[in-house]
Amino acid sequence: MKKYILGIDIGTSGTKTILVDDEGRVAAAKTVEYPLETPKPGWTQQNPADWWQAAAESIRAVLEKSKVPGDQIAGVGFSGQMHGMVALDEAGEVVRPAILWNDQRTERQCEEITETAGGLPGLLSYTNNRMLTGFTGGKILWMKEEEPENFARTKVILNPKDYVRYKLTGVIATEVSDASGTGLFDVKNRCFSDELIAKLGLARSLFPKCYESYEIVGQVTSEAAKLTGLPAGLPVTAGGGDAVIQTMGSGLVHQGVLGVVIGTSGVVAMGLDGYKENANGELQLFCSNAKHLWHAIGVTLAAGGSYRWYRDALCAAEKEEAARTGKDVYDILGEAAEKVAPGCGGLLFLPYLSGERCPHFDSDARGVFYGLGLEHGKGAMSRAVMEGVTFSLRDVWEKIRAMDETIRPEKVVLSGGGALSPLWRQIVADVFHMPVVTVSGSGEGGAYGAALVAGVGLGIWKDLIEATSVLREETRTEPIPENEEVYDRVYALYDKIYLALKDSFKDLSQLR
Ligand code: XUL
Repeated sequence: MKKYILGIDIGTSGTKTILVDDEGRVAAAKTVEYPLETPKPGWTQQNPADWWQAAAESIRAVLEKSKVPGDQIAGVGFSGQMHGMVALDEAGEVVRPAILWNDQRTERQCEEITETAGGLPGLLSYTNNRMLTGFTGGKILWMKEEEPENFARTKVILNPKDYVRYKLTGVIATEVSDASGTGLFDVKNRCFSDELIAKLGLARSLFPKCYESYEIVGQVTSEAAKLTGLPAGLPVTAGGGDAVIQTMGSGLVHQGVLGVVIGTSGVVAMGLDGYKENANGELQLFCSNAKHLWHAIGVTLAAGGSYRWYRDALCAAEKEEAARTGKDVYDILGEAAEKVAPGCGGLLFLPYLSGERCPHFDSDARGVFYGLGLEHGKGAMSRAVMEGVTFSLRDVWEKIRAMDETIRPEKVVLSGGGALSPLWRQIVADVFHMPVVTVSGSGEGGAYGAALVAGVGLGIWKDLIEATSVLREETRTEPIPENEEVYDRVYALYDKIYLALKDSFKDLSQLR
């Protein structure tokens, strides 16, 4: 009898649920959206009850659409936006809205944590990661300092998908990939850093039992069964943080496959067959979704986000044309960009519209068009945005490469909205000097990786290698040697521009 797995991704704009069969085919999918609160500039929050409602609604919709009977569903897997702080009280009720991964309020607390840990080298010796403002650790100290009553009521801290799993099973738990993104986790030994937690004056009991991603954590309760339509007693696995588990759907299950995601943010990721030191904490080095596997990633904050900003701020005419002709506005922009030669005749774009995370930890950095001349039109500007984002992704790849010179991937597996553009796929191939492939399933995002990892825990596949053998190559783009040469020259200049502007970005921040 055919078996199915439910993959649920608790994203920032919505929750996506998919039902995947044991050959990797998606039988049904449903996304339910919810709002994002920004109570102050740089602050982002969500209501965990919205995630649970969206999960229940999307599960019901997927079961209805697919008509798959409950006894053919083997179990559930999770993916979720990382780093968010969900504080629960003694009764398991939410204490305050969750503070999200892209919230910037904790700069002071992150500095305090780094100092208490003995400076950056001390912190890296505990966790192998910097304490980024997005991470959970700084948020806990912020609540302790700014909202002492809420902190006093808090008995346990969860990440977003852990909360939804708790609502589904009644079991309070976390797992190694999301726990890595708290910044309080001993990534080498795959357990919370008791020593760092004690140094920060936090109770160890704030952090729940930690599982491996594929392990079964609990079963669907009868109350959750009524709300979702799932059979009570169905096994639920731990799942993983989206930045890690979404790459399982791209086949990043052993060292040597390089994953690039061009979504709102851009991610460059490499599976690591063993633990590696994160020099200067330039990358995010997290536990991955199998016991022997770690994961190096770097995030550029505005990738597809830069292109969307450009479309909305500067391309009203193209949007009108799209509305008039029924064409996709990105196709219109892409057609004009294709007519321009690589390097855009000396026009460059720096994609730091929301500051930057990797390789420049610089919240003051800003976006730049550099080298504009009377000869440059819309096509050049569109292409320059794609090229600039790709140079920023190459910056991250150079950091991963520097970590271990023996890592020599044969190809880039590209996913996210940017992967839909043939031109962008060609630019990535030319800038990275590697063939670029897209694979089936990667368009489904974190939910697909969640289903594959859960399938391993549920005994459908022996391991992640077997699970990802269901992936099929859909497109392949080879680098063009003449373009590669041009891009190497432009890339060298791209890196110089940031360094030249670094100090003035700081001055500029005083004007905002
Ligand atoms: C990863 C990260 C983002 C969020 C967004 O470190 O901050 O990928 O998980 O979903």
